[in-house]
Formats: sequence, C-alpha cells, structure tokens
Amino acid sequence: MFTESCTLLLSCIFLYFGHGTHASSYNYSTTTKCLVEPLDALYGGGIIVNPEFNYNIERWEAFGQGKIEERISKKGNRFMVAHSRKHPLDSFSQKVCVEKGKIYSFSASVQVNEGSEIVAVVFKFPNRDGVRGGDVIAEHGCWTLLKGGFVANFTSPVEILFESKNTSVEIMVDNVSLQPFTKEEWRSHQDKSIKELRKSKVRFQVTQASKNPLKGARVSIKQVKSHFPFGCGMNHYILTNSNYQKWFASRFKWTTFTNEMKWYSTEKTRGQENYTVADNMVKFAQKNGISIRGHNVFWDDPKYQPDWVKSLSPEEVRTAAAKRINSVVSRYQGQLIAWDVVNENLHFSFYEDNLGENASAEFYSTAQQLDPDTTMFMNEYNTIEYSSDEKSSPANYKKKLEEILSYPRNENLSLGIGLQGHFGSGQPNIAYMRSTLDMLGAIGLPIWLTEVDVEKDPNQAQYLEEVLREGYSHPAVQGIIMFVGPEIAGFNVTTLVDKNFKNTPAGDVVDKLIEEWNSNTQEIIADDQGYIDVSLFHGDYEITAEGRVANTSATLSLRVTQAHEPQAIVHVHIDT
Ligand SMILES: *[C@@H]1O[C@H](CO)[C@@H](O)[C@H](O)[C@H]1NC(C)=O
Ligand SMILES: *[C@@H]1O[C@H](CO)[C@@H](O)[C@H](O)[C@H]1NC(C)=O
Ligand SMILES: *[C@@H]1O[C@H](CO)[C@@H](O)[C@H](O)[C@H]1NC(C)=O
Ligand SMILES: *[C@@H]1O[C@H](CO)[C@@H](O)[C@H](O)[C@H]1NC(C)=O
Ligand SMILES: *[C@@H]1O[C@H](CO)[C@@H](O)[C@H](O)[C@H]1NC(C)=O
Ligand SMILES: *[C@@H]1O[C@H](CO)[C@@H](O)[C@H](O)[C@H]1NC(C)=O
Ligand SMILES: *[C@@H]1O[C@H](CO)[C@@H](O)[C@H](O)[C@H]1NC(C)=O
Ligand SMILES: *[C@@H]1O[C@H](CO)[C@@H](O)[C@H](O)[C@H]1NC(C)=O
Ligand SMILES: *[C@@H]1O[C@H](CO)[C@@H](O)[C@H](O)[C@H]1NC(C)=O
Repeated sequence: MFTESCTLLLSCIFLYFGHGTHASSYNYSTTTKCLVEPLDALYGGGIIVNPEFNYNIERWEAFGQGKIEERISKKGNRFMVAHSRKHPLDSFSQKVCVEKGKIYSFSASVQVNEGSEIVAVVFKFPNRDGVRGGDVIAEHGCWTLLKGGFVANFTSPVEILFESKNTSVEIMVDNVSLQPFTKEEWRSHQDKSIKELRKSKVRFQVTQASKNPLKGARVSIKQVKSHFPFGCGMNHYILTNSNYQKWFASRFKWTTFTNEMKWYSTEKTRGQENYTVADNMVKFAQKNGISIRGHNVFWDDPKYQPDWVKSLSPEEVRTAAAKRINSVVSRYQGQLIAWDVVNENLHFSFYEDNLGENASAEFYSTAQQLDPDTTMFMNEYNTIEYSSDEKSSPANYKKKLEEILSYPRNENLSLGIGLQGHFGSGQPNIAYMRSTLDMLGAIGLPIWLTEVDVEKDPNQAQYLEEVLREGYSHPAVQGIIMFVGPEIAGFNVTTLVDKNFKNTPAGDVVDKLIEEWNSNTQEIIADDQGYIDVSLFHGDYEITAEGRVANTSATLSLRVTQAHEPQAIVHVHIDT
C-alpha cells in the first residue's frame, strides 16, 4: 500500500517540478529574526507541492482534530492556519515520498496568534511514531524561520506536520520547503563552504631590492600553524605515558581535560582540594603550546556531584559552591580559552533545585568576574545529535541562553554555545545538525563542538567523518574538540589508536582531516611579473623565496586570516 502511494506521489512531484521555481543552489540562510512578511520558500519548496499556499490548501490535509484554513495577509500573502486544536500535533500535513540515502533539508516560516511558543516540525514515517525534526520559538505578529531535516533510511512516504504543546494557540505556516540532496551534493556544499570560510586567496610578488619584479623566483610556502581549533580531549594517562604524549602533541594544539578539572576530581573529600593532576596537565599543555578549554566548574546532573555534596542542605550547597567556583576559576584565571560553567543545565537542575531558578545565571556572572577574558560556555548533549530530545532542542537552548544573558549582572557576559556532539551508532542526522547550527548560529555567539565522538558501529569511521566535515564547514562553528583518543587511556567509545598506537579506521579519518585542513608545503615558480597566486588555509606560514641566481633568498612569516584582503599583495624582497 505504501509502495503504491509512493509511486503515485513521485509522479506527481516530478510533474510539479517542471513548473516550480526550483533553485538547487546551496544557502546557509541563518535568519531567525522575526519578519513581518515571510521569506520565499527555500529551494522553491523542493518536493513540497503548493509550498506557498498559492493554490489554497491543495495537497494539504488536516492532521488530528484541529481545523485548517487558508488566510490572506493585508498585503495579500496567503498562508495556512491550524486552529481549534486539542492535541499538540493537531495541525496540517502533506505526504511526500523520500528516497533512501538522500539528505532532506526542511524549512518553513511559522507564527502563532498569541504570545510566543515553540513550534516543531514532525516527520511521520509509516507505522512509526512521529519524530521531531527541528523546532523554533515562534512569535505573534511576525514570521520566524523553522529549520530541520533528516537522512532517509528507506524509500518511503513521509508525512510532514507541525507541533505546538500549547493547544490554545493557532499555528500559522507559510513557504514550506523540503529539499533532497545526494550525499555527493551535500559533500560538495561542504567543500565549497570550507574553501570560502577557512581559506583565503593570497597573491605574492617577488621583487628585487630595486623593487623590480623578479621573474622565475622559486617560492616555498610552509604552514607552521593552523588557526582553526581542531582539538582533542585528554585525560590523566597523558602524565605517565610518553607514547600518548608524543601522539597527542604531534597532532593537536587545543584540548579539554575529560574529567580532571571537575569538582569530583579536585575535591573528593570535603575541604581537601587537590589540583595536582589538573595542574600537571596544564603544565604539559602549556609546554607543548596546547590551548585548554576549562571543563567544568559545575555539572548540573545530581549524579556527578562529589559524594559529600549530595547530602548537603541547600544552604550548605550555596557555601560549598561559592568556594568551588572561586577556587577553580581563580586558580586558572587567564590560562584557559573557555570555561564550561554549568554543564548540562538543560537536562538537569541540581543547582537550580538547591539554590533557586537563577543559579546558572549567577554562576556565569561570578565566573566572568573572576576570569574576565575567558568565554563562558553552556555545554549540552543531543542538541545537534538527536532531534527527539526536546530538553536540549535548539529552541530550548536559545531560551536558556537568553535567560542567562538577561540576568541583570550578565550584561557584559561573554557567552558561548557548547554542543557536545556525542553521536550514537547509525547514520548521523547531518541535515538536522546543519539546521540546528544555522538556527543557533544566527544568535551570533561563538559555537564550539566540545566533545565529539561516535559510538561503535561498522561505519563508525565514516560517520565520524560526516560529523566532523559538517562542523568544520559550518560558518558558525569556531572550534571542534573530540572526546576520543588512545585505547590505553580508556577512550573506548571512539578509539583512534590501539594498544600499539596503530591507527584504527577512525584514527585514519582524523589524521586525513588534519592533513586536508592544512595547506601542503608547496614550491611555486613566480611568473613574469614575479607573481604567485595561492589559496591558503588560515594559519601561520613561513615563506621562503629564492632567486634564480644562486644564494639569493629571503624569508618572511605570514599570518593568513579571514580578514586577509584578496587584492592585497604580499611582497617578498630579495637582495641581489
Ligand atoms: C540566501 O538566502 C537569503 C535569505 O533567503 C537570501 O537573502 C540570499 O540572497 C540567498 N543567497 C543565495 C546565494 O542564494
Ligand atoms: C512566501 O514567499 C512569497 C514569495 O514566493 C512571499 O511573497 C511571501 O512573503 C513569503 N511568505 C513568508 C511568510 O515568508
Ligand atoms: C498558551 O498560550 C496562551 C496564549 O499565548 C497563553 O495565554 C497560555 O498561558 C499558554 N499556556 C501555557 C501552558 O503556556
Ligand atoms: C594529591 O593528588 C596526587 C595525585 O593523585 C597525590 O599523589 C597526592 O598524594 C595528593 N595529595 C594529597 C595531600 O592528598
Ligand atoms: C531571578 O532573576 C530575575 C531577574 O532576571 C528576578 O526577576 C527573579 O526574581 C529572580 N528569581 C529569584 C528566585 O531570585
Ligand atoms: C558592563 O560594562 C560597562 C562598560 O564597561 C560598565 O559600565 C558596566 O558597569 C558593566 N556592567 C556590569 C554588570 O558589570
Ligand atoms: C535512521 O536510522 C538511524 C539509526 O540507524 C536512526 O537514528 C534515525 O532516526 C533514522 N532516521 C529516520 C528518519 O528514521
Ligand atoms: C570504557 O571506559 C570507561 C571509563 O574508562 C569504563 O568505565 C567502561 O567500562 C569502558 N567500557 C568498555 C566497554 O570497555
Ligand atoms: C653560496 O653561499 C655559500 C655560503 O654562504 C657558499 O659556500 C657558496 O660558495 C655560495 N655559492 C655561490 C654560487 O655563490
């Protein structure tokens, strides 16, 4: 039965395609501003039929018990409304057919008739519960862009519908789009984006002391540092294992200690702080030029408090927590590039339960006062990795950010978005990952993927690669730390090297990407005008130019950044 409706739908879609304004160009539209008139449907609606409701409600059906109707704005724009709703999913739906292996990007403009409410898109596959595929805070009086998506595991019809938990609001929708991409198309979007985001065009001109161009000079370009933080977690085994030290220091310049700065590690017994291990790891990192993200001041999960904290009264928690934040943040003040201040405060609320609703906001304020130049992060799981976890959905993440920022003492807070990225086994939903990064990226705060790993799976290495490429190619992502490493250090979710420090397939992927995201050392001969044009990854470079006559050369250090003007010429003078 489903096969039949699938075939039927497919023929309809292709017929409609002929007339559509289908634009397959890739677009990171990151608008989350609420707009008076909505945006055009992205990709001309993709495979959605009647995406802009220009043909009344044709192709759309009521879902559940609500009522649906088309309305027209004062300016003549037509949109869809679900009203008289009784259940969260009472809305309207359209059935389309999706193809196994393709990646589907969803978007729609949404609005509610009162207040502001979270509106989600739900994808309902036959014989399964609907899965949420993206959400956003919709407002009254203007349109907000909702994004989402999925990777199709099978060729199947799928029903697209909308959800709002508050059944007393009307859901309004316009310009719905579901656009399929092949994995190859997706990859080429990433490659294009990487080229635009992470590289700059540089023109060198080799000249003689007389300023005349030196034709035929040989220029060697060597990258000595990468600017994009692609790093790796480390743990205390690094202090005692020289193979681990060598392996780490030869690959990574950014790190997070997986557990060693946590409260349960530094104060196992009440009143007996011991920072020996964390301090030694900081020393190791500093000696090797490795930057450190602090992790974490507090963890909101009741399970992960130091044992003695679990039995304290709220007043005692307050005193102990004040001592903790002061101790750890002051100790490393000025030495860290970030702090995860209250870990996982979307899923848990140990401190809010004990100290009141503003516990997180207050801790962020205190941490920033103690360490003014370090960015203070939220840090959550499932926001990019699992679309069905509502607690840490993009809409709820944004609410918490706004709550922390609106706290009176936080007007100068430098806040960051930490997304852990613990992916399960199975195909990661990179369409959802991208839509979430788009929506959170539009807030304008720095985003880091902070703890990326992928569970064991026959395709683990491939899935790790998909996730890392998605992060690296996204304009809002400013850094990636993986929680992976050698088997001997206990990294048993994603192991990069075995007991003999031989690469696993996942280790091969990481080494391949490190190489790919750095410019190869290259030697180029200058043209008749002494020019050389290259595209270089952002980083620090050593440039050496040699004239054709022996023993004439010059070297210079060059920093290539995003701000590099493509027209600007780097002059390399050679004395002859
Ligand atoms: C991307 O989308 C935005 C908003 O819809 C639009 O303004 C912009 O022109 C688009 N860019 C491209 C390259 O299509
Ligand atoms: C939907 O797209 C049409 C143009 O295709 C535009 O006129 C209209 O304003 C858009 N609606 C919304 C809500 O963005
Ligand atoms: C549902 O929305 C209405 C209209 O905005 C609002 O008055 C009401 O408080 C909301 N209910 C809940 C439970 O949030
Ligand atoms: C602190 O921790 C280190 C490393 O575990 C240990 O060697 C040392 O004995 C501890 N110090 C105290 C005073 O317990
Ligand atoms: C939390 O902070 C807000 C101000 O942002 C304030 O209005 C509210 O009363 C505070 N709540 C408590 C329990 O102190
Ligand atoms: C924020 O910074 C401004 C300018 O430096 C300063 O006047 C203000 O007092 C600061 N606010 C807080 C809460 O620290
Ligand atoms: C595809 O399969 C993965 C597990 O292999 C699952 O997590 C995901 O939800 C599935 N996607 C859809 C759209 O069913
Ligand atoms: C993985 O490592 C953790 C921590 O080192 C340990 O608790 C767990 O038992 C290990 N799991 C397996 C399957 O080896
Ligand atoms: C180049 O310089 C080196 C040492 O500075 C010298 O030994 C060598 O003879 C020079 N070669 C020529 C061709 O001038």
